[in-house]
Amino acid sequence: MSFEPHNLFVTGGAGFIGSNFVHHWLANGGTGRVVVFDALTYAGNIDNLAALEGNPRYVFERGDICDEARVRALLERYDIDTIVNFAAESHVDRSILGPDDFIRTNVVGTLALLKAAKSFWIDAGNKQALGDAAQRVAAHRFHHVSTDEVYGSLGPDDAPFREDTPYAPNSPYSASKAGSDHLVRAYHETFGLHTTITNCSNNYGPYHFPEKLIPLTIVNILLGKPLPVYGDGLQVRDWLHVADHCAAIGLALSRGTAGQVYNIGGNGETTNINIVQSLCDLIDARLRADAKLREMFNASPAASGGTARDLITHVRDRPGHDRRYAIDYGKAARELGYQPSRSLEEGLDSTVDWYLTHTPWWQALLGRDYDAWVRANYEPKKRS
Ligand code: NAD
Ligand code: TYD
Repeated sequence: MSFEPHNLFVTGGAGFIGSNFVHHWLANGGTGRVVVFDALTYAGNIDNLAALEGNPRYVFERGDICDEARVRALLERYDIDTIVNFAAESHVDRSILGPDDFIRTNVVGTLALLKAAKSFWIDAGNKQALGDAAQRVAAHRFHHVSTDEVYGSLGPDDAPFREDTPYAPNSPYSASKAGSDHLVRAYHETFGLHTTITNCSNNYGPYHFPEKLIPLTIVNILLGKPLPVYGDGLQVRDWLHVADHCAAIGLALSRGTAGQVYNIGGNGETTNINIVQSLCDLIDARLRADAKLREMFNASPAASGGTARDLITHVRDRPGHDRRYAIDYGKAARELGYQPSRSLEEGLDSTVDWYLTHTPWWQALLGRDYDAWVRANYEPKKRS
């Protein structure tokens, strides 16, 4: 059964994937409005949406997903039929140093959203059996964006994660996402909320906050800083370009079946050390070919004839570090028509170009809070 989303409520829409999705939807999607609802935590950045200022189809509302009454009021004010929930604390390392915010936003916040959605789409509709409210009971969608990390860690020869792989989260982050997934499922089974969930692999691309591996490595290469690789660097992730992920969410909204889960992967399985080395080589080549870039990024090794690979520094491993993630996206291919469109090589190439041409965007993020985070996470990992 297909669904036509009209007015979207996009939580966490000022973050990395959420902002990419909002741009994608307004460029490719239907005709309705997109209301971005975001608390603007350290990871939320209104600059990610600056190009949409003045767009009559876009509205920004600052707020917290734990505030059920506010969410309920906004659903009504903007006549929302579709929620896409990106809002979360999303960094595994931060969840190890401080898990509480993860439980609050990812579990309690998702529950507050589900309660507000049920109240607006189902309870109010059932009281008035006619008109717009009855329509809302029939046509609504709560899409929850989740992660492959809920499935735990794979051995080198294990089959990739499928939708029926048992949950085995290993970090406070993945445990909190698992909790939110279970609540979403329960709201479908118990209350008939039209939910869908996508569990995707590691995203990368534009607007990625430089605490995650790929943007951190790019920024540190350009600034001539050490490139921290946890443990032996042989952990494997399936890298998914964020544009492919956004297209997959669009397909899940329109073609997905209520109550279903879809895994989204990128055909991009590789080791962390390979990612870091590839980024070193891509940036070295750009700098060698361009005197202006050498002048702009004069601390980067290639600006003075060196190589960024010399910055690679193996540091103490992350506790509980999952060894391998891999995704079987066969169900999404069959039922949604999903296929990733970019190779990892193409995706890394264009991502490096994006960071080279958006220096003010990432430089603005490297303030005192960022430095404090880098010290808190990396000082204890230094090897003596
Ligand atoms: P992000 O950290 O870049 O952005 C999160 C956004 O949520 C920010 O804009 C932040 O301000 C907002 N937010 C946080 N707490 C909030 C609250 N209480 N109320 C309202 N807004 C709040 O995250 P991301 O990388 O864009 O991830 C988006 C979603 O995708 C998350 O649910 C994450 O678990 C999931 N996911 C991410 C990846 C990845 O590789 N980045 C992979 C799989 C799944
Ligand atoms: P990350 O981008 O934090 O995503 P996730 O933990 O959700 O997979 O990390 C990706 C991989 O890179 C993960 O195996 C941890 C590793 N990593 C490093 O080796 N060094 C770093 O500085 C960071 C941030 C991550």
